[in-house]
Amino acid sequence: MQLKIEKYDYEGRGIAYENNMVVFVPEALKGEIVDCEIVKTSKHYKIAKVLEVIKPSPLRKKSFCPFSSLCGGCTLDICDVANSLKIKTEGLKDLFLKNGLDIKDFKIVANPEPLYYRNKISLIVKNGEFGFQRENTHEFVSIKKCYLAQPIINEILDCFDYFSFLNGKLTIRTNNEHKVLIIIETKDKVNINPKLYEKPISGLIINNKVIYGKSFLEEQRSEFYQISYDSFFQVNPYVSNLIVQKLLNFLNPKDIVLDLYCGVGFFTFPMARKVIKVVGIEVVANAIKSAKEVQKVNKLANITFYQGRVENIIDKLNEKFTKVVVDPPRSGLDKKTKEYLLQQAFSKIIYISCNPLTLVRDLKEFQSKYQITFLEGYDMFTFTKHVECLCVLNLK
Ligand SMILES: C[S@@+](CC[C@H](N)C(=O)[O-])C[C@H]1O[C@@H](n2cnc3c(N)ncnc32)[C@H](O)[C@@H]1O
Repeated sequence: MQLKIEKYDYEGRGIAYENNMVVFVPEALKGEIVDCEIVKTSKHYKIAKVLEVIKPSPLRKKSFCPFSSLCGGCTLDICDVANSLKIKTEGLKDLFLKNGLDIKDFKIVANPEPLYYRNKISLIVKNGEFGFQRENTHEFVSIKKCYLAQPIINEILDCFDYFSFLNGKLTIRTNNEHKVLIIIETKDKVNINPKLYEKPISGLIINNKVIYGKSFLEEQRSEFYQISYDSFFQVNPYVSNLIVQKLLNFLNPKDIVLDLYCGVGFFTFPMARKVIKVVGIEVVANAIKSAKEVQKVNKLANITFYQGRVENIIDKLNEKFTKVVVDPPRSGLDKKTKEYLLQQAFSKIIYISCNPLTLVRDLKEFQSKYQITFLEGYDMFTFTKHVECLCVLNLK
């Protein structure tokens, strides 16, 4: 079937129409005519896969990655980085407008390091080969390297035979000193060659047990952090530093800040240097353990960390907060947390989001009491469909 791409959605997918029905076409550019096969049909839309580009856009470029069309991670490496940003911006603006959020001058801040930026990758290991599961399929795609992962991660992948296993999951994390944490989940035997330890390995964790070194990495940014192997940490150091700087602009020295979904304290520590007090809440026990240990190193007495689910803790807090920072998982804010936030009278809600769909859903609910005064995107996950957003809402 031949389709003409008319515009973009919020994930940078091409949008075409077939008998008035929307067809999402990943890896297709506006103006292109593509030969497609429908891979999914639902009541309101279809998803198609490009078989051949019949009439290519002048923006189309050959990907830098030989695995790109197979793994499905970098759906926007079909053009250069500047155009990929324009595509994401256009798609997101459209999403905001459709949902009644009139964000006229929305822009996405560029990634200073568009390649080799990720400090973590998670792979599947199948029959002794590592790779990704192609999105929306069960298809395994073996890769040799990832052009988004930092060079040391690819160097470790190059010597997979030093820690090989047959089937399972492999996560590799690194820090600003290029030290590495290898995290393996498998039912099979892991064959360790002692040569592995000639590499800058900080820790090897197999099935949640530390086999070598430590269970965490340390990272020196403007603050010092400890990243336990099972904790969330921002994957793009270049862009996440920009977000911290921007976030601090919205705080003042008299603030008392509630930091929901605080992880290992990525935003908590820099905020605590600027304001009277910060209270951080996070569910992962090791993340809070790390945060509390680092609090002593960072010599910041004006922070209280609580471990547990946000929705179980928030209404038990006694402090009178002036502002709240929320950085929830992709699912966004749950009903109880939103109700609590709406009952309070924070002067600002600062919402950091990695999922524009749940961000928009939640923003609409806050609009009765809060007004959006700032919304900016960050190209945290360059060449992929993802965008990080920072949104500031003021009490009306
Ligand atoms: C997007 S991350 C943000 C972490 C942190 N703000 C940062 O920048 O590193 C979301 C965090 O929320 C935590 N989380 C998920 N659901 C939660 C819940 N119901 N209550 C508390 N924390 C939760 C996750 O473990 C993760 O650390």
